[in-house]
Amino acid sequence: MSTLSVKAISSLQAEFSVPGDKSISHRAAIFGGLSNGCCEISNFLPSEDCLNTLKAMRALGADFEVIEELEGYGPTKLRIHGKSMQLSAPEGPIDCGNSGTGMRLLAGLLAGQDFESELFGDASLSSRPMGRITVPLAEMGAKLETLGERPGCAPLKIHGAKLLPISYNMPVASAQVKSAVLLAGMFAEGTTSVTQPATTRDHTERMMQGFGLTCETAGNHISVASGQMPQAFDFTVPGDISSAAFWLVAAAAMQGSRLLLRDIGLNPTRTAIIKVLSRMGAEITETLSPSDGEPIGTIEVKGAALTGTTLLPEEIPNLIDEIPVIAVAAALAQGETHIRNAHELRVKETDRITTTVENLRKMGVKVDEFDDGMVIHGGASLKGAEIQSHGDHRIAMAFAIAGLFAEGETIVHGTDCINTSYPGFAHHLSAIIQEKKLPEEFKLPVLKQ
Ligand code: S3P
Repeated sequence: MSTLSVKAISSLQAEFSVPGDKSISHRAAIFGGLSNGCCEISNFLPSEDCLNTLKAMRALGADFEVIEELEGYGPTKLRIHGKSMQLSAPEGPIDCGNSGTGMRLLAGLLAGQDFESELFGDASLSSRPMGRITVPLAEMGAKLETLGERPGCAPLKIHGAKLLPISYNMPVASAQVKSAVLLAGMFAEGTTSVTQPATTRDHTERMMQGFGLTCETAGNHISVASGQMPQAFDFTVPGDISSAAFWLVAAAAMQGSRLLLRDIGLNPTRTAIIKVLSRMGAEITETLSPSDGEPIGTIEVKGAALTGTTLLPEEIPNLIDEIPVIAVAAALAQGETHIRNAHELRVKETDRITTTVENLRKMGVKVDEFDDGMVIHGGASLKGAEIQSHGDHRIAMAFAIAGLFAEGETIVHGTDCINTSYPGFAHHLSAIIQEKKLPEEFKLPVLKQ
């Protein structure tokens, strides 16, 4: 099991970009594979999660060619050969690794096929709730069996069927559930709609529009009609704001720092982290670049003395993946930070309420744990500690950032999992610790084929 060892730094001055967005890369693989031609995708995220979805699409008949790759990881630029909505039965069970997004979106896609399939994942994924997708997909007419040791959990056996459209009122604000139902809806007979209890990331809707499909959104009500053919096109995936979040927090909480992150996705359903850090006192500027798809641009942060804040209930779905690192910012801020209404954290790659609270306490932070979140009493100096990631990439990275502020050494155990979302994190961390500044010094080693 690999580890990261981190020591405090006094200033962060850097300019760089982070790898491609994970949510968008999963969807690029799926919609590219369904499309009516070849799609060239640039800045694809070569993380284990997205590679599993890419391989799943290949197992369903949609092959891909690698144009460029990140040394030791996988493709960053590739060409997918779409199957014009005609997928073929896979030869065996499909491995989704650690990815809830991969498994839930693929389950939606597979529900409307005329063959059987099976999806499985690692121990973490096999403990996450799948009832949230099997219920609406069963309502549409598919038969899904949850074969896991834990009730309602993966592996999933999917008996595809001719689907009926539904109007689904989602009980949880989940982009994965919304996307699973909309993907199934593309294969149902008629118009399928979803109503979400709060706004969640809208990459599926934007991706559908990019592929020329009509997907209508009215507030939190989204609908898609079947019988549409995704039109192949070439596009570039923006940098992942959830990966950028680690550096945003590091710079925001370090007085005198300045960080410029380029080519980051600035989709408004993902930028709540910027609002929260600004509210805490950081000086942050977003500058949009021209784009005809997902919003993209630069984020500039200047460090400041932070103060605690309260996360608003409607912000939670739009910064759910950033909460572990926001908790680190809260520990570094003066005063209390209230993170509540965040039950969903308990069913992520780990129970992120427990794993965040446990590790903050190890570093000397006073935290009250609640069923739906935590209250962090910030301002005490952080002490270097032995941190356990529990196999959760965002916990590993959040506490590596905490180590940049702690007295003594912080050792994060179990850092292999970082490759599920941010290949190259250790390289960027080491450039920051060595006080490198320029974009070239942060370049990840891309191989040209
Ligand atoms: C994702 C949605 C989020 C997020 C996950 C990626 C997606 O989960 O936590 O990392 O790509 O749709 P929800 O289903 O809770 O929205």
